[in-house]
Amino acid sequence: MNPDLRIKTAMARFEIISPVKGSVLSLQTKRLVLSVYKPSADRMVTDYLVRNRAFHKEFTQRHHDKYFTVGEQRQYLKEDLNQYNRNTQVAFWITLPGRPDRIIGRLSFYSIIGGAMNSSFVGYHIDEECQGQGYMTEALLAGCDFMFKYFRLHRIEADILPTNKRSLACAERCGFEKMGYNIKFMEIDGKYQDHVMMVKLNPEVEM
Ligand SMILES: CC(C)(COP(=O)(O)OP(=O)(O)OC[C@H]1O[C@@H](n2cnc3c(N)ncnc32)[C@H](O)[C@@H]1OP(=O)(O)O)[C@@H](O)C(=O)NCCC(=O)NCCS
Repeated sequence: MNPDLRIKTAMARFEIISPVKGSVLSLQTKRLVLSVYKPSADRMVTDYLVRNRAFHKEFTQRHHDKYFTVGEQRQYLKEDLNQYNRNTQVAFWITLPGRPDRIIGRLSFYSIIGGAMNSSFVGYHIDEECQGQGYMTEALLAGCDFMFKYFRLHRIEADILPTNKRSLACAERCGFEKMGYNIKFMEIDGKYQDHVMMVKLNPEVEM
């Protein structure tokens, strides 16, 4: 067996563990913990976003200063939890097992649609200091497995700037395939920009 494939298979496994402090759902992967937090995680989340504000700027929607405050993040966490309870979004925050108080990334399955679509979008970002260690690959593989298994999703779409080579490589590594382009798809850094549409299908629910 190709050693790369062996690594991928091992990393795709996750275990549902008792929710870590302040969360309602936690998954354990080989090296990470993925949790859906309650609004009480507002300080940890704000700290992560402030630390990475400059790093994420080029790849995310434009945010004003207020976004980087504890009060504002509390509101976002409330909305995330509401959506989780309505089965329309699963927004995981990522931590390392030995540092439960320090968030190092976010992996969000959003706009979950049921019925004949059974699909969602996915978005992600990681702490600048934690790049280049395969963490997002590990989180995305586990997250997709979870969404396929527990939400029975048929399709997950990631839309990525053509210039974002790291994100494209990560999605490809996790089994996403390029389906085309979404023109002027989303506002990124203050401008509607074209995106590469990457899709991962769930072979277990093909009909
Ligand atoms: C895109 C982003 C999430 C990638 O995060 P990441 O954790 O570095 O991504 P990966 O898991 O794919 O890691 C791959 C890197 O880890 C290395 N690596 C080390 N161990 C590894 C392992 N066990 N498995 C896979 N890769 C491993 C790879 O060689 C690769 O290194 P390289 O980037 O120098 O080529 C991150 O760069 C980021 O947050 N960027 C800004 C926000 C953003 O672009 N979000 C996406 C918008 S679509």
